[in-house]
Amino acid sequence: MSINAQRVPNIHTPPPGPVARALIETDERYVSPSYTRFYPLAVKSGLGTTLEDMDGNLYLDFTAGIAVCATGHCHPRVVAAIQRQAEKLLHICGADFYYPPLRDLAQKLAEIAPGPTPKRVLFTNSGAEAIEAAIKLARYHTRRQHIIAFYGAFHGRTMGALSLTASKVNQRRRFEPLMPEVTHVGYGSCYRCPYNLSYPSCALECVTHLEKKLFKTTLPPEEVAAIIVEPIQGEGGYIVPPPEYHRELKALAERHGILYVADEVQSGIGRTGKMFAIEHWGIEPDIVCTAKGLASGLPLGAMIAKADVMDWAQGAHASTFGGNPVSCVAALETIALVEESLMQNATDVGGYLIGRLRDLQARHPLIGDVRGLGLMIGIDLVKDRHTREPASVERDAILQECFKRGLVLLGCGESSIRFSPALVVTREEAETAVQILDAAMTERH
Ligand SMILES: Cc1ncc(COP(=O)(O)O)c(C=O)c1O
Repeated sequence: MSINAQRVPNIHTPPPGPVARALIETDERYVSPSYTRFYPLAVKSGLGTTLEDMDGNLYLDFTAGIAVCATGHCHPRVVAAIQRQAEKLLHICGADFYYPPLRDLAQKLAEIAPGPTPKRVLFTNSGAEAIEAAIKLARYHTRRQHIIAFYGAFHGRTMGALSLTASKVNQRRRFEPLMPEVTHVGYGSCYRCPYNLSYPSCALECVTHLEKKLFKTTLPPEEVAAIIVEPIQGEGGYIVPPPEYHRELKALAERHGILYVADEVQSGIGRTGKMFAIEHWGIEPDIVCTAKGLASGLPLGAMIAKADVMDWAQGAHASTFGGNPVSCVAALETIALVEESLMQNATDVGGYLIGRLRDLQARHPLIGDVRGLGLMIGIDLVKDRHTREPASVERDAILQECFKRGLVLLGCGESSIRFSPALVVTREEAETAVQILDAAMTERH
């Protein structure tokens, strides 16, 4: 029977079943132990929001390969575009030659990037590489060295991107020295304010602190090349900053000639109900980095910069595989689908899901906060709503319980659960997910 003719989830063999177990055994012998597998899910195939494991169990996938499969697993239009391109040209190297998919995608990304200023695009293979490119361009363009990043941020694991990442100490331990001249500051996270203040009486200390303290004591602003910020913090806990946050931060950057770089690797390509999440704040960044959802699962990243900022010389930066033609056509088809209906669906189903999670919050004291935009939604679990002490162990137990019941979810931050399903998810699937979560929380508490 085809996947979409069956009831989902459907767990008939408690995972890992015998076939999954055999795969995992060999995998664990040969694959790097640094991978963070959280539960034993070995995947055979995927369609839309459904995953089939090696033993034929069916799962409702609310991770979409960590916010990557924007159009769902194996969307037929994306698959067809990939197949057509694969018969014509697999690779030629965009750094050295011209070809239509790369030109077409650059033009499209320049058009859909936030703000009216003309843009240019550099292609990469991953989110981290897009961030590396942004760091390099910011230094090149401004001739300044320092970068400001945020506690809780995740920008990737290559050495430059890792220098900005401040999400889990495991990710940095024993890798130092990293790139110098990076300063981390507190993010606009009102539920757990880094300055122990309350919004709005805080008067946005998380922004004003930079000029009041940092720029007067340790960091000369005229030496700062860029502020690199996630519009919504992803791995840090799906944190939506307050309404004025990005506008104020951008204005501060402008006052000091500092570039504003939006890391949209996780939040971009329709996930929050806008093509880029920063559009919710009406900001035009100087540089936007995108990857994950861009090509529905094929490896592709892009750094989109204002044309007058991307002023580096021939040979200054490029990549052999970045902008691979097959990835580019997958991206063009993905963006078409997102524009046609999926961005609207993210708003509609995301609105429904967040409302239903707030219903759960009313019944489960463990849920301290529900937050998000579109289909980038997080719930923050706490031991006590007053102290807001993170309930990390409880969070992990609930994720395991959901998995056993056929709902694939992952955590983020210290004690949050993220909901980042494919943008094709339906209201009925969102309801199923909420009911499974409800049952899992009831079982565990
Ligand atoms: C906001 C953000 N930036 C950068 C990255 C790094 O992307 P990649 O894993 O493709 O290198 C991630 C990955 O989770 C991310 O969420």
